Amino acid sequence: MTATQAPTTTGVQGRTEIGVGINRVDGPLKVAGQAPFVNDFAPDNVCHGALVQSTIAAGRIARIDTAAASAAPGVIEIISHLNAPALADPTITPPPPFQNQAISHHGQYVALVLAETPEQATDAADLIDVAYHRTDPLVDPSDPRAVPEENVFDTDTDTDRGDPDAGFAHADVVIDAEYSTAENTNSPLGLFATTAWWDGDIVTVRDATQGPMSTSKGLAKTFGLPESAVRVLAPYVGGGFGAGLRLWPHIVAAVMAAKMVRRPVSVVLTRPQMFTGIGHRPPSKQRIRIGATSGGTVTAVEHLSTVTTSMNDGTYETITDGTNSGYDFAHLRTRDRHVRLNVPSPGAMRAPGEAPGNFAIETAMDELAVALGIDPIELRMRNYANVNPANGYRWSSKALDECYRRGAALIGWADRNPEIGSMREGHWRIGYGTAGVSFFWWQPPCTAEVTLRADGTAAVRAATTDIGTGTYTVMGQLAAELLDIPVPAVTVELGDSQLPSAAGAGGSGLTAALGNAIADACSQINARRSVAAAGSGVAGDIRVIGTSKPPEPDEVQLSPSGAFAARFVKVRVDADLGVIKVDRVVSVVDAGRILNEKTARSQIVGGTVGGIGHALLERTLTDTDTGRIANATLGDYLIPVNADVPQLDVEFVGGPDRYNGIGVKGVGEIGLVGVAAAIGNAIFHATGVRLRDLPFTLDRLL
Ligand code: MOS
Repeated sequence: MTATQAPTTTGVQGRTEIGVGINRVDGPLKVAGQAPFVNDFAPDNVCHGALVQSTIAAGRIARIDTAAASAAPGVIEIISHLNAPALADPTITPPPPFQNQAISHHGQYVALVLAETPEQATDAADLIDVAYHRTDPLVDPSDPRAVPEENVFDTDTDTDRGDPDAGFAHADVVIDAEYSTAENTNSPLGLFATTAWWDGDIVTVRDATQGPMSTSKGLAKTFGLPESAVRVLAPYVGGGFGAGLRLWPHIVAAVMAAKMVRRPVSVVLTRPQMFTGIGHRPPSKQRIRIGATSGGTVTAVEHLSTVTTSMNDGTYETITDGTNSGYDFAHLRTRDRHVRLNVPSPGAMRAPGEAPGNFAIETAMDELAVALGIDPIELRMRNYANVNPANGYRWSSKALDECYRRGAALIGWADRNPEIGSMREGHWRIGYGTAGVSFFWWQPPCTAEVTLRADGTAAVRAATTDIGTGTYTVMGQLAAELLDIPVPAVTVELGDSQLPSAAGAGGSGLTAALGNAIADACSQINARRSVAAAGSGVAGDIRVIGTSKPPEPDEVQLSPSGAFAARFVKVRVDADLGVIKVDRVVSVVDAGRILNEKTARSQIVGGTVGGIGHALLERTLTDTDTGRIANATLGDYLIPVNADVPQLDVEFVGGPDRYNGIGVKGVGEIGLVGVAAAIGNAIFHATGVRLRDLPFTLDRLL
C-alpha cells in the first residue's frame, strides 16, 4: 500500500455517458480495505500521541505535573505550554494548542503525550496531573452575561430591503414566533487523525481534511514556512460533513510534535474528542415575523437569529441567507448575531446556516398557510422568486415549481385530507408536510491538470479530495465523455496539496469548480487534437492545465443559482405515546445537470438521513455548570439507524444550469435541508401541535 493510492477503474464496463449511475471507482479499494485512510498508514519509526484535555471550561492552568507520565513505559516526550515552541503566527482560529495557560473551553488540549504505542501514550496521558485556577464559565446562551454581538467579520449578511414596518402595517395576518435548533455534532465514522513527518524543513502531513490546500496554507502560515514546504495528503477521508474544513488544534499539535521529537507522529482523536475538537453546528435561537394579505401575498418578513460561538473564534454561522433569496419578499429585514461562550469552536456541519434557517422560515410559511387557509404549496407559489430578489437578475436555472408539482404527485398530496388532525391509520395519527429549499450558490476558483496520452488513456490530477461523495468517479466520467474515451481509460488522482491547485470539498461547490476546470482542460486538448488531425503536429502526450473561474453576475446579467428542492413527508404519530415515525420522504431536486445519477442520489439519500437526525434525534448537550459535553459518544448522541429511516424517494428535475459550462449545481448539502421543517409541518397536520424547537422529541407532544 502506498501513501496515495489512486483508484483504478478496473471493473467499470465500457464507455459510459455523463449522467449514467456507474459504481464508484474507489468502491473495490474501499470494500477490500485497500484504500489508505489517514490512520491506515504508518511511516517507519512513527510514534503515537495522546491528547490531554482540560477539565475546566474557563480559567488558567496553574501547574502541570508530568513526573509520573514521563516515567511511564514507552513515553518519549510530553508537550504542553511549558515546552511548546512559539509559532510563527499563532493568530489562526481556532487557536493553536499549547501557546499559553489560558483555558477557554472544557476539553481544550493542555498536553500531548508521545509514546511508542498508542496504548502507552493513552496510559501515560491519564497520569498527567493538571491544577487549574478556575473561573466561572459562561456556557448557557440564555445567561444574561452572554450579550449578542454584531457581525464584525468579513461577510455582513444583514439585509434591509424595502420597508418592512409599512409591510407589516398592511398585513391582514401576521405570524410572530420563536424557533430554536439544537447543537449538533458532525459524527463521521472515520476518526479524525493526523500523521506528520519532517524531512529537514519540509513537512508532510496525512490528515482527514476536506481541503488539502487550505490545510497546507494554514500550516505554512502558522509555522512560518513557504507553502511549497508543506505537503498535505488526504486521498481518502472517512466522512467529514464539514468537520474537515478548518485547521484544528490536533493537526498543529501533530506537526509541532514531529518537529520536536524528529520522528513521525500520529495523533488519532477519540470519539469523545470528536465532539470537542472538530467543530459542531451551533445552537440557534430565531424569531420570525411574517405578514401577508388575505390573498397570500407576503407583505413583510423579519428574520432574526442568534447562534453561539467560542470565546476566541474568528467566524460564526449566519443563518438567514435562505430567507434573503428564497422568496420574492419585497420588504425584508434579517439580522444574524452571535454570543460568545466557553464552548469549543463551532464549524461547518452539512448545510451550515441553511439547515437551521430553512427550518424556521419553512415552518413559519406553514403557519402562515394555516392562518390564511391557503394550501402550503399554493402559498409558496404565490411568493415564488422568479428572479433573485437580492439583485433582480434572472436565476441561471430554477425548477422549484416543478419540484413541488412532481413531489406532490409522488406523495399523493391532493389525496390527503388537509383538515388538521383528520387523518388516522388505526392507532396512528397521520400527517403530511412539505418544505421548499433554495440552496446558495458557491463555486470557488479551481484548476485541474488533464493529460491525454498517446495510448488513448488519460489522467486527471487536482489538489482536492473525495470525502466519500464520488468525486473520483464523477470527474473520471466527465473527462471520459469530454475526451471521447472509455471511463476505464481515465485515472483520477486527488488528495495531495501539491497537485494542481484546486478548491476543497465543501460548500456543495466542488463538482462545479473542478468539473469546469476539467472541461476547460479537455477542450484545450480537443483543440490540439483537431490541429493534429489536420496534419500540423502534436504527437505524443498532451498535458494541459484547465481553469474555472465563474463570471460576476453583473457581467452576465444572471444570478447564479444553487440547487432547489421540495421535500414531502408523511409521518405517523402515536396519539397516546407521542412516538413520531417518519413514514416516507419524497425529495424532488433541481440540481442542474446530473453527472452520475447514482452518486447524486446517494448524496440526497445520505443528506435526508442527516435531516431526520436533525429533526428527531441529534442534540449535543452541555452541562451548564461545568461546560462539559455530557453525551460525547455515539451511544449517547443519537443519530438515525435503519429503523428510523423509511422509504426515501429521490427524483431529479430541471435542466442544465446556464451559469457554468457543464451545467451542474451542487448536491452535497441540500439533501439535509428542509427535512426538519417538512417533518414538523407533517406533525402539525397530524396532531395540531406546532413544534418550533429541534429536535422534535416525543415529550414535546405530550
Ligand atoms: Mo460542507 S458543511 O461545505 O462540508
